[in-house]
Amino acid sequence: MLDNFIDNLLKQMTLDEKIGQLQQVTGDFFGSSGGAITGPIDDQAKKYIKDNVYNIGSVLGISGKKEIIDIQKNFLQHSRLKIPLLFMADIIHGYKTIFPIPLGLAASWDPKLIKDVAQASADEAAAEGISVTFSPMADLVRDPRWGRVMESTGEDPFLNSIYAKAFVEGYQGKDRIDNNHLAATVKHFAGYGAVEAGREYNTVDMSEWRFRSEYLPSYKAAVEAKAQLVMTSFNTLFGIPVTGNRYILQDILRKELSFDGVIISDWNSIGELIDHGVAENMGQAASLALKAGVDIDMMSFSYISQLENLIDSKKINIDLIDHAVYRILSLKKKLGLFDDPFRGLETKKVNSHVFTDEKLALAQKAAEESIVLLKNDDKTLPLNIDDSVALVGDIGDSHDLLGSWSFKGDKLSVKTIKESLYSKFKKIVFAKGYKTASDFSSKMAEEAVAIAKKQKYIIFVAGLESEQSGEASSLTDIKIADNQIRLLKKLAELGKPIITLLVTGRPLDLTEIQKYSNAILLAWFPGTKGADALAKIITGETNPSGKITMTFPRNVGQTPIYYNHFNTGRPLLDKNADEKYLSKYLDSPNDPLYPFGFGLSYSNFKIGQLTVDSKEIKENSSILASIIVHNPSKLDGDATVQWYIRDLSAEVVRPVKELKFFEKKLVKAGSSSKFIFRIDLSDLSYVHSNKKMYPDKGKFILAAGFSSSDDDLSCVEFIYK
Ligand code: GLC
Repeated sequence: MLDNFIDNLLKQMTLDEKIGQLQQVTGDFFGSSGGAITGPIDDQAKKYIKDNVYNIGSVLGISGKKEIIDIQKNFLQHSRLKIPLLFMADIIHGYKTIFPIPLGLAASWDPKLIKDVAQASADEAAAEGISVTFSPMADLVRDPRWGRVMESTGEDPFLNSIYAKAFVEGYQGKDRIDNNHLAATVKHFAGYGAVEAGREYNTVDMSEWRFRSEYLPSYKAAVEAKAQLVMTSFNTLFGIPVTGNRYILQDILRKELSFDGVIISDWNSIGELIDHGVAENMGQAASLALKAGVDIDMMSFSYISQLENLIDSKKINIDLIDHAVYRILSLKKKLGLFDDPFRGLETKKVNSHVFTDEKLALAQKAAEESIVLLKNDDKTLPLNIDDSVALVGDIGDSHDLLGSWSFKGDKLSVKTIKESLYSKFKKIVFAKGYKTASDFSSKMAEEAVAIAKKQKYIIFVAGLESEQSGEASSLTDIKIADNQIRLLKKLAELGKPIITLLVTGRPLDLTEIQKYSNAILLAWFPGTKGADALAKIITGETNPSGKITMTFPRNVGQTPIYYNHFNTGRPLLDKNADEKYLSKYLDSPNDPLYPFGFGLSYSNFKIGQLTVDSKEIKENSSILASIIVHNPSKLDGDATVQWYIRDLSAEVVRPVKELKFFEKKLVKAGSSSKFIFRIDLSDLSYVHSNKKMYPDKGKFILAAGFSSSDDDLSCVEFIYK
């Protein structure tokens, strides 16, 4: 159904004005100096913008109430048809109040929390002039060598889909996107998380069957949640870079998923069609991308430099440009820009939106729910505030707790772990223990050992710096830095209980940490209130409930490693089997150090027997399954029961288990609680070789428990007749 306002506006536009709407640039083209630069810039391209700057459609990476108002005011004075600029940015896990990185947020198993975090992020960003966020990143990930796992929600299609929906609903709000919400951009469509060898921007290749089974669901969930934009990924898929791939963008995204919003390229991904080898020059790249369906060119300048020639030489049809412009103008109208180009900015009081008590409290809650207790031998944790503690490790005194993609997050406003713990413990001392993450100092190590010797407990802080995760930060190894391990070993010689706090944006090889630590808390990059959250967990004011959503391998050689793998024809069913011809390694076990869904609680929950009201499911029937969780401790705690299904015989190979449902709820100290799951045929559906989704009759295994490890699951077999 055509919108008359937009249709009339489109009819008045010149070709230059139309092409301008398709171009996105950074803020420096409008005199802004503080904008985020998140990719390579071709200075030659600037000449194309000079004469067209007041035809440009959108800007990325700048914000700030005054700056946005000034730029928009000046722009509208020069824009012939008064078409407002659209301001977009990477609000990935907060704007100024920074929440845990998405891989940490995902460990909360709390979709409502994710929605609240997205809502709070949108409110802050909108109050400083942003209208669109380049989030959620819905890429399924299985390889910690890839730095961008920190932006994802992990390795499970079902959980990623729930989170993608929650992010979109939080950013966009209910029906219309009001002035306190943002349009969401689901990215990176599609399959970017499967880069070969975890190497950034590397080739992605997989069967369409696997793509549809495992990678497509989360993008689909975001589109179904009405995400207004989709960002194309840098990578190839099915042999053609997605940014120029008609099948992916037209047949799957536009037609099959009925996406009618705006498709935006990633930074220069149109220009990179030349590097991929599917376009000889910028003209061909622009033509390929426009025909594939990319509406906005982010920073390749191919559209603004090539489309006029392509029209003149009749290599492309003006309709393609008109349809793209129509979608962009529709988005601007949906955001209310034609009614108020400032989206209420002029009357907004920034301080009533940014760093409010509510948002800081939410940041602390999110951090507390994201932190994962990986080990707690002999109930080392929680500590008593009267205990004497030695805090050791350079990161313990670092403000660098926000993680990558923390946009306007101000590190210096972030409390350090040391500051938070010093406010809790009466007898606490600190030693850096080493100069930096890369070099070791025997003198500093000895100093650390000397102070630790006098204390009862050692809290050791290890891990990474923010910029060692995120874009363009692939690693060939995921071991903890040598100097951190050397220091840990020296501390372990004291024979005192060691609690290791891990600050990281990606799964790491924790085999050495595990060997020398009595307890391990995985903090991720916990955000603005992360240190206070950690302190509350260490002292027991908060009972940890986080569970990892991405497998932690024993070593990098196991990657990619994930729980929902196929059985193979020669499965290693018994870890200790010495039979030769099995799917295993000569130099490592198959199982990970910490499996998907793993995370401990101070409550030491116990799980009862899984029961079902029937072992048979038919058309229009269901099975009601239940399991009891006991909390034998004196501490109330949140328990998360995960429900997995295995299809024992299907038309295609099926994972050894797949997450189908989960429930997180409080189980009071000394009490028990029943967790239930009603299974219906939709839970048995899967993608067949003909790409269609439907269930097959046959035998299945239902499993319920506290992680994807068989050791943590209670199982029962049932049949679909
Ligand atoms: C980057 C990233 C993308 C981001 C965009 C704009 O290259 O790939 O995730 O949204 O550029 O900053």
